[in-house]
Amino acid sequence: MPKLTVINRAGEASTITATTGTTVMEAIRDNGFDELLALCGGCCSCATCHVYVDPAFADKLAKLSEDENDLLDSSDHRSAQSRLSCQLPITDALDGLIVTIAPED
Ligand code: FES
Repeated sequence: MPKLTVINRAGEASTITATTGTTVMEAIRDNGFDELLALCGGCCSCATCHVYVDPAFADKLAKLSEDENDLLDSSDHRSAQSRLSCQLPITDALDGLIVTIAPED
């Protein structure tokens, strides 16, 4: 199972194990990071699952959809590494991914 490193808002890194077929959001939430609110449950309508993704994995991630792009535009903290973690299915190719939980909007 792929391992992810999650950096919380305090800057602390933790390594978690993710299950393929779930999403990065679910992996983070299910490992007790309650600062990732994920209020819409993964429907791509809240942007509270915003993370910054390790640029080394950019070409291994699911493509950015128009809806995700629009929602990310609503964040004051968008960067070139921004993604909504509920839109990132876990695959074996993501083993070693580093994600940083973005500041709260
Ligand atoms: S959980 Fe709401 S957009 Fe990702």
